Amino acid sequence: MTQDEMKKAAGWAALEYVTKGSIVGVGTGSTVNHFIDALETRKEEIKGAVSSSVASTERLEKLGIPVFEANEVAGLDIYVDGADEINAEYDMIKGGGAALTREKIVAAISDKFICIVDDTKQVDVLGQFPLPIEVIPMARSFIGRELVKLGGDPEYREGVVTDNGNIIIDVHNMAITDAKDMEKKINALPGVVTVGLFAARGADVLLVGAPEGVRKFEK
Ligand code: A5P
Repeated sequence: MTQDEMKKAAGWAALEYVTKGSIVGVGTGSTVNHFIDALETRKEEIKGAVSSSVASTERLEKLGIPVFEANEVAGLDIYVDGADEINAEYDMIKGGGAALTREKIVAAISDKFICIVDDTKQVDVLGQFPLPIEVIPMARSFIGRELVKLGGDPEYREGVVTDNGNIIIDVHNMAITDAKDMEKKINALPGVVTVGLFAARGADVLLVGAPEGVRKFEK
């Protein structure tokens, strides 16, 4: 089984959580793209989606799934999204696709975060995957220096501008043993828009595409 086939299996498994008449929170990335394809098969039953990126909005609309603004809804039952890494506590690193801020907002308004990944994303300690941080451009150097003090090697992601007009700094070589604490510390730096650590609000359900099928874990 290829990695993409495992992503597809996880994406389609998330359909089980989609309820009739609902508006579904939709994340970003190659795994979520499979979920969006699966959602098309249920599009007559649902009201639509709230999307976390321009890319996902375009895919949803192309398939005829109505997209609502986050401000138009009081809340969502579920948010379905991928992750770059997830640990045993369901803390995650996200933002490989630079959509982390909107992802955090849509996750925050949702009752249940359903994380869909292939089995290469499960780790003991977060940080092997460089931690993305969305930053206001004028704070780039300051935040870089602060991240060095926190023990990481920051790298400016050249040529990337987020959907919100900001930049991304990726932090290498940081073993994140206390994700909640690190999330707080980085979020507190002036100029940080969002850190791609999802620990204060981690996942509630984890669907892992693996060679033998989809492994399902629930908190
Ligand atoms: C997007 O910004 C990310 O948070 C994605 O959820 C994450 O990068 C997973 O992407 P893939 O599903 O493409 O591996």
